[in-house]
Amino acid sequence: MITNLLMSSLIEKYNTAVPRYTSYPAVPHWQREAPSQEAWLRTLNANISEHNEISVYIHLPFCENLCTYCGCNKRITKNHAVEMPYIDAVIQEWDIYLDSFETTPVIKELHLGGGTPTFFDPLELRRLISYITSSVEVAADHSFSFEAHPNSTTAEHLMELYDLGFKRLSIGVQDVSPKILKAINRHQTVEQVRVTTELAREIGYDSINYDIIYGLPFQTEEHIHQTMDLIDEMRPDRIAFYSYAHVPWKSKGQRAYDEKDLPMGTAKQHLKDVGEARLIDMGYLTIGMDHYALPTDQLYISYQAGQMHRNFMGYTDQYTRCMIGLGASSISDCWDMYIQNEKHVEDYQRIVSTGQLPIIKGHGLTKCESETRGYILQLICQGEVTIAAIESVSPDRYLGLIKDGLVSMKNDQIKVTETGQKFIRNICAAIDPKYIAQAEQQVFSKAI
Ligand SMILES: C[S@@+](CC[C@H](N)C(=O)[O-])C[C@H]1O[C@@H](n2cnc3c(N)ncnc32)[C@H](O)[C@@H]1O
Ligand code: SF4
Repeated sequence: MITNLLMSSLIEKYNTAVPRYTSYPAVPHWQREAPSQEAWLRTLNANISEHNEISVYIHLPFCENLCTYCGCNKRITKNHAVEMPYIDAVIQEWDIYLDSFETTPVIKELHLGGGTPTFFDPLELRRLISYITSSVEVAADHSFSFEAHPNSTTAEHLMELYDLGFKRLSIGVQDVSPKILKAINRHQTVEQVRVTTELAREIGYDSINYDIIYGLPFQTEEHIHQTMDLIDEMRPDRIAFYSYAHVPWKSKGQRAYDEKDLPMGTAKQHLKDVGEARLIDMGYLTIGMDHYALPTDQLYISYQAGQMHRNFMGYTDQYTRCMIGLGASSISDCWDMYIQNEKHVEDYQRIVSTGQLPIIKGHGLTKCESETRGYILQLICQGEVTIAAIESVSPDRYLGLIKDGLVSMKNDQIKVTETGQKFIRNICAAIDPKYIAQAEQQVFSKAI
């Protein structure tokens, strides 16, 4: 058990700007020129021919209202006439992939993210999903999920999507206090969260996740307790307990509040500690960065079995080598190469209407990058990695991590300690040659 004083000094030392490691290399380190469509499709197909199970991510960017804290790629509008042309464009983009496939892929995982997928009419969602799933194969043990905003998720959404094979949903709760919801301009009530959860359970969804954030403007320990009380009452299967990422140079909505009203450093870490202690007390178990699950949840079961994986959609129990991202701003990944789509909705639609993939950037991984990527995944998903991962990079940094009690060394393995879990991004950064080269530049959000 480490003392509060020691924890405070660790927080001070390690609260530096580090990547979130949703990808390796992180997007700011991708190559300057985007790969060509030919190069991307060739690399993708080579990988599908070896592992034909794929994941599909579909970005649905519209929201009716701007939540000021939001760091996602979204378009705010109340005009629902945007739905049909957007779905048409995603179908056109999928058609380009269909034309290129040399092996028929099998969809193992499909996720609707946003923006707000439930902004769309359930029948538009049906048109899109049924088009995609009927054009290729779908694995018998597939996992389909979507992000549900409690203020726009209707019984019809839940029923249509369940009928299309969705069994998991993630509800954006963030915080339950009216004061905080007002500060972040998020229009929803606790009752809407309860109703969405209960209805989903009645329909038969087998895993419900709540997204919660600590570090929001004006948030105090009391607010965290109120949110945890709701979790205790509803007992969702999984919790994503995110650190608020403050990136006002990128997400301009975040300029709506004063930085002095944000809990920072030890105050922010305290909010995390209070929330985490409550989650553990309620029977949730820690699984990797920011995530908690009940022992009955499939993600926890796969974590225990050392089979948990992480991709751009977050943690998953379904390993696929290739992920195709459809829609504006989506990222695709076939292990050897990443690409990202055009972010601006109209430009995205215009490009796909010409029969071209809307690739704006990407990165082909070198052998060394693939290796580092594998090591970082092991650290994040299993909490350990072989010593070989660090030998060529930064033995000195690791000696520091060992001295600070964040990792331990046994035989040929480096293991993240319980204290180290809180600093996992820093531990990954210590085996990241790119981070080491560019250390401390303000391109990433703070670790805590
Ligand atoms: C696309 S949003 C959620 C879907 C839906 N639009 C909603 O708001 O309910 C995905 C999640 O990202 C998280 N998120 C967004 N902005 C964030 C930020 N600045 N820091 C940390 N987490 C953030 C939130 O927890 C959010 O639920
Ligand atoms: S949090 Fe969700 S609803 Fe709010 S702006 Fe972001 S994507 Fe849209």
